[in-house]
Amino acid sequence: MIKKRASGARLVAVDPDPEVRLIGERKARAAGVEIEYVTAVGDTPLPSVEAASADAVTCSLVLHQCPLEAKQAILENAFRLLKPGGRLVLADYGEQPTPLMRLAFLLVQITDGFEPTEHNRRGAIPRLLQACGFRRTEIVARVPTSTGLISIWRATKEV
Ligand SMILES: C[S@@+](CC[C@H](N)C(=O)[O-])C[C@H]1O[C@@H](n2cnc3c(N)ncnc32)[C@H](O)[C@@H]1O
Repeated sequence: MIKKRASGARLVAVDPDPEVRLIGERKARAAGVEIEYVTAVGDTPLPSVEAASADAVTCSLVLHQCPLEAKQAILENAFRLLKPGGRLVLADYGEQPTPLMRLAFLLVQITDGFEPTEHNRRGAIPRLLQACGFRRTEIVARVPTSTGLISIWRATKEV
């Protein structure tokens, strides 16, 4: 979807799971778009992408699976890769505002583990964004799902 919206952009997709890469490559072929896939964790520098060279970084439903140190390292990496003025768009579970959402999110906690998911539920994402250097951060959408509320943050690296 991103590549179709920004067809001239170079798109580099990162995930440590080789199976996920295969799914992504299959989807890109079916959509007729070219994407560079890298099998790696997002918390280490990417040799194929220079620091301060990316217009945008997105991170979708990854952080709730990661220990606190990895969450921080992924966001630091995103900050490092972005040009000044570039933006991070981050989708993940954050605070769960109602008892029903809280209950629904329990399913994710049971599946992905209480330690990493509990940090998200207790508000770690906005704190980590600030700690990594993002000054302007906002929630631009809230998406209720059957597994809890997913928030979409936009964070800008100031010029
Ligand atoms: C719930 S899936 C989301 C997949 C996809 N990003 C999406 O939004 O549909 C979580 C993904 O996070 C990946 N992941 C786990 N730890 C990671 C890390 N340290 N760096 C990058 N990706 C990671 C997993 O391999 C998995 O594909």
